[in-house]
Amino acid sequence: MALREAKLAFIGCGTMGEAMVRGLLHENLVDPEQIVVSHPRPERREELGQRWGVEARADNAAAANGASVVVLTVKPQVLDEVFADLAGGLAPDALVMSIVAGARMARIAAALGTPAVVRVMPNTPAQIGRGISVWAATPVVTDTGREQARTILSALGQDEYVTHENELDMATALSGTGPAYVFLFMEALVDAGVHLGFSRRVASRLVLETLRGSVEYAASAPEHLARLRNQVTSPGGTTASAHYQLEKGRLRTVLSDAVWAAYRRCVQLGEAEAPERNGRPLSRTSSEPQE
Ligand SMILES: NC(=O)c1ccc[n+]([C@@H]2O[C@H](COP(=O)([O-])OP(=O)(O)OC[C@H]3O[C@@H](n4cnc5c(N)ncnc54)[C@H](OP(=O)(O)O)[C@@H]3O)[C@@H](O)[C@H]2O)c1
Repeated sequence: MALREAKLAFIGCGTMGEAMVRGLLHENLVDPEQIVVSHPRPERREELGQRWGVEARADNAAAANGASVVVLTVKPQVLDEVFADLAGGLAPDALVMSIVAGARMARIAAALGTPAVVRVMPNTPAQIGRGISVWAATPVVTDTGREQARTILSALGQDEYVTHENELDMATALSGTGPAYVFLFMEALVDAGVHLGFSRRVASRLVLETLRGSVEYAASAPEHLARLRNQVTSPGGTTASAHYQLEKGRLRTVLSDAVWAAYRRCVQLGEAEAPERNGRPLSRTSSEPQE
């Protein structure tokens, strides 16, 4: 079934759920009549109904009733509650898409009695259609189901399909958490600019445009990132002096440690009992400090 003929239910339509609905309608990928959302608060249901012309229900089971694609967009803490609402009520051939952090596909399939599950790790730029969503699917998801999933994700920006679910934990640490690393980096640079004597407005603008331009330049250039960095590094120059301090401060190691810490935490939250992932130990070295 093409997405145009599908009925879509968004269970717990908060920030990310609404970003998906917005993208799907803005891109004219589906019509509002195809979408039902659920939300526990009446004012939120009214807001969603008025803003997007979609049907909004209080009851999760009623929203999912008859849906061919059910998208779980709740927080992990309420997932069991949502499972209890939906269990036994979905069509066995329904495609369930979940963006719930840490919820593994086998758990979702078992709880809902629907073997076709797609698990997604989006990130916050999805809210302006510029996200990167990493996704995996259970083997029974058909080519049509995969195409439906990819079309829904196109509403959030780019997507990257992975074959191993473990890569979703890795993506959580890199691209899911990634915007937080970037915002911290930007904030630190703005503060450094203010320290130099720029107004916060000017410092913020210089940092934002430097980031934007550098990202677009890197995306357009086939070279390795180190070559791009070397282009701005003259012998004995200002960049070389700054670079020395960044290396002395262990910027790369700190970043790498942060990503590994996020990965370990993600695995711990998802299935604390797993001692190994893809043949690799959870710790990078036996001497690595644990949190
Ligand atoms: N935001 C991100 O960048 C991001 C990135 C990757 C993954 N995720 C994942 O995406 C999921 C949604 O995140 P979000 O930021 O969109 O969260 P959110 O804005 O809090 O959306 C979840 C919504 O579910 C509603 N809700 C609470 N209990 C419910 C229930 N029993 N049944 C139905 N709905 C219920 C909440 O209502 P109230 O407002 O009343 O609490 C809230 O509006 C999370 O699992 C998160 O891990 C998010």
